[in-house]
Amino acid sequence: MITEKLKELIASVDITKTPSKYATGNKKAAIIAVCSQKGGVGKTTTAVNLGAALNQFHQKKVLIIDMDPQGHVEKSLSSVIPTGVEYAPLSSVITAKKGNILDAVIKTEIEDLHITPGDKSLYETEGALAGKIGREQILSNALSTAKTLYDFIILDSPPNLGNLTINSLCAAHHVLVPCEMSVLAFEGVTDLLDTLETVNERLNTTLKMLGVLFTRVDGRNLTMNQLVEENLKNYFKGNIFKSRITVNTDLNKAQLEGRPVFQFAPSSSGSINYSALAEEVIKKLKR
Ligand SMILES: Nc1ncnc2c1ncn2[C@@H]1O[C@H](COP(=O)(O)OP(=O)(O)OP(=O)(O)O)[C@@H](O)[C@H]1O
Ligand SMILES: [Mg+2]
Repeated sequence: MITEKLKELIASVDITKTPSKYATGNKKAAIIAVCSQKGGVGKTTTAVNLGAALNQFHQKKVLIIDMDPQGHVEKSLSSVIPTGVEYAPLSSVITAKKGNILDAVIKTEIEDLHITPGDKSLYETEGALAGKIGREQILSNALSTAKTLYDFIILDSPPNLGNLTINSLCAAHHVLVPCEMSVLAFEGVTDLLDTLETVNERLNTTLKMLGVLFTRVDGRNLTMNQLVEENLKNYFKGNIFKSRITVNTDLNKAQLEGRPVFQFAPSSSGSINYSALAEEVIKKLKR
């Protein structure tokens, strides 16, 4: 005979929820999408070195998620990634019914710096997402446990405004836009702003602009730099980082060597610029 107590107990169990294999933590990650539809402006260099700086100089636990099928985050950290580690490809997590990003995460040899390795199948995922209901929020849902385990989650986005980038923007609290200081900087700015505005209005009302980051700055082009800065300040309502990243071949060499610039060339301008950026991010977010 079923007693009243037993009936209550049965009613309280939600059979639609399968227990997660990951324990939740008590952190509240700041999620930053590094985003620009322009190719080669320093998105990956920024995602990797900002993440590494937050980890190394501020003792933060950081996860870098590579939403770009090109897989450049893994390449940029190849020397600090152990071999033979098992993980699920990010595309399988995104196309699964209730995917958890933690299945796709690996630890680098740098303590508390984790990444999702490159996954070429994301090229197909971009198209596959088009037919899915609620496609924009898939990454956001997959981050629910990870959010409680990291201080920062940094999303490196592909050079387009497709479904994977929209997923990054829907999952993020903040967006950081790397921008080269050249006339080309204005190309596509209105498309990017339109996308950010639409996401902000319809999909992620809490998304905030963290700032535009000037990259590959050549101090000799003073007039051009001023022109770009003044115009972009108007477009982005003054949301420009004080820190800027000057042209520095050590950033390029560090990426080729597969290490954060702080390990490869600790006293380079690239290293100094990215540690200043991390400091500014910490201050902006009051963390
Ligand atoms: N400040 C810099 N000085 C010199 N080289 C740089 C600088 N920033 C980035 N690079 C180099 O420029 C190239 C493009 O940078 P990166 O891969 O970060 O751009 P991206 O925006 O991620 O490109 P994509 O759109 O293809 O993903 C790389 O070879 C990188 O090493
Ligand atoms: Mg990139």
